[in-house]
Amino acid sequence: MEDNIQRILISTDDIRARVRTLGSAISRDYADQNPLLVGVLKGIVYFLSDLLRAITIPVAIDFIAISRYDPAQPQKGAVRLLKDLDQDIAGRHVILVEDVIDTGLTLGYILRTLRVRQPASLAVCTLFERPQQRLIAIPIKYKGFDLPDCFVVGYGLDHNQEYRHLSYIGVLKQEILGFPQNCD
Ligand code: IMP
Ligand code: MG
Repeated sequence: MEDNIQRILISTDDIRARVRTLGSAISRDYADQNPLLVGVLKGIVYFLSDLLRAITIPVAIDFIAISRYDPAQPQKGAVRLLKDLDQDIAGRHVILVEDVIDTGLTLGYILRTLRVRQPASLAVCTLFERPQQRLIAIPIKYKGFDLPDCFVVGYGLDHNQEYRHLSYIGVLKQEILGFPQNCD
């Protein structure tokens, strides 16, 4: 295990099994609809590529990147589009693929941005959710796992851009994180 990780919260095997299940569900629900999976960079790279390989129907992918306006003054929900989609989504069946839904403000912004482009349908697939943190309602069609109220890294998720490469979801040691948290 990586030095700065206190413990593993979700193992590589458990993630793999769950992602396969999500891929099967999408393959069944979207048969003949050639859905477009839209990933939110950068945390999504592991989940999206594993999910894609678990899907057995024709499917396309695209990416968007967003950022908060001022990381020094994290005014929650103030997000900005850094990279837009490459393609027109009018009439397409779109599945927005996200890593973590916390307050829901990030995803709320993205959904509003995409909805005005008139996709045939717009659904959400998230690997993780923290239901206790939700500030706005988000309809989630596919979900991997609920997370406890603690910050996690690995499988694409970062802490100051580090630890994305870990194949599991881990809890950082408190001295690395810089603040106490209780995630039992
Ligand atoms: P929201 O706008 O509050 O829903 O924030 C969701 C975003 O915060 C996700 O897209 C992640 O990029 C990031 N995030 C939330 N929780 C974690 C975590 O535990 N580790 C790493 N990134 C996180
Ligand atoms: Mg994200």
